[in-house]
Amino acid sequence: MATTDTRRLRVRAGRAEYDVLVGNGLLARMPALLAERGLPAARAVVVSNTTVGPLYGAALAEALGAPLLTIPDGEQHKTLATLGALCQGMLDAGMDRDSLVIAVGGGVVGDVAGFAAASYMRGVRVVQVPTSLLAMVDASVGGKTGVDLPGGKNMVGAFWQPALVVVDVAVLGTLPPVEVRCGLAEALKHGLIDDPALFARLETGQTAIDAALLEQAIAVKARVVEADALEHGVRAHLNLGHTFAHAIETVSGYQWKHGEAVAVGLAGAARLSAALGLFAQALPARIEAALTRLGLRCAMPASTRRRSGKRWPPTRSGARAGHASC
Ligand SMILES: NC(=O)c1ccc[n+]([C@@H]2O[C@H](COP(=O)([O-])OP(=O)(O)OC[C@H]3O[C@@H](n4cnc5c(N)ncnc54)[C@H](O)[C@@H]3O)[C@@H](O)[C@H]2O)c1
Repeated sequence: MATTDTRRLRVRAGRAEYDVLVGNGLLARMPALLAERGLPAARAVVVSNTTVGPLYGAALAEALGAPLLTIPDGEQHKTLATLGALCQGMLDAGMDRDSLVIAVGGGVVGDVAGFAAASYMRGVRVVQVPTSLLAMVDASVGGKTGVDLPGGKNMVGAFWQPALVVVDVAVLGTLPPVEVRCGLAEALKHGLIDDPALFARLETGQTAIDAALLEQAIAVKARVVEADALEHGVRAHLNLGHTFAHAIETVSGYQWKHGEAVAVGLAGAARLSAALGLFAQALPARIEAALTRLGLRCAMPASTRRRSGKRWPPTRSGARAGHASC
């Protein structure tokens, strides 16, 4: 049983329904959490990366008696080649259609392992165990999975809702500060989209992350996904700032982290919207002040643009072809 201090959000996305659990020490309770939901630990494979695997993936795999499959760390490895190697590893591990993928890591692990689960034998169940703040508040919920192509981010993928999402606040203890800031950028985005109280809390620059804050930020994502699971309408709001962000990531050769790029994208989208008369004139400055207080940048330094050797801003056709949504 989940302890009373475990927060539970129920997500209904299309025909899928699943819990998002938020609490301290949930990783250690994974065998019980899976059993409570009839998810087959005995047929599970844990997927992690070279950084998070040694920290958390290996212990979980051992506790479940499951094999651990490790992918390389970094956005540059969110590729079809990594996906192919992972699916082959799943086959070698003897996984069948009743097996379970448990993705333990940041958004890259979640996206790649989620897409592997969506594709392997035409679909096996996946449990998302996000370990970065960004993956906790955004990537792990909603079922978007996929990989990048050389021509752009998230160009190949599938909607594949998880069977369960387990957010263990304790794992944030090892997350580098820059990654915490990246997650705060997405949380601020959620506040802007649909939770003024969350925005107000974050704009004070308060960065203590607890289960309540996580639940509040995840709830925004869950509400949007419930309203529009396949992004035919309102779910596109979650892409706020992402047209700029994906361009920055691409132009910087992925030297910029997704969340850092999203921060610049939020500032850029605010300025553009105000210039077009679609946004209150005072809001861009307020958003930039909030980003600055959270330790995030609001513009891409000229040095980064020059270093990339790529055209900035990207061409109109490049911008159109360069990414699918987050
Ligand atoms: N599917 C979606 O809906 C969705 C939404 C937003 C973003 N994304 C995707 O998510 C990715 C970005 O996710 P991210 O910011 O988590 O990047 P990431 O997965 O690269 O993780 C960031 C870094 O933190 C490390 N890390 C993660 N958890 C850790 C922990 N607890 N302790 C120590 N190190 C840890 C990772 O190994 C990595 O080096 C992008 O590819 C983006 O496109 C997907």
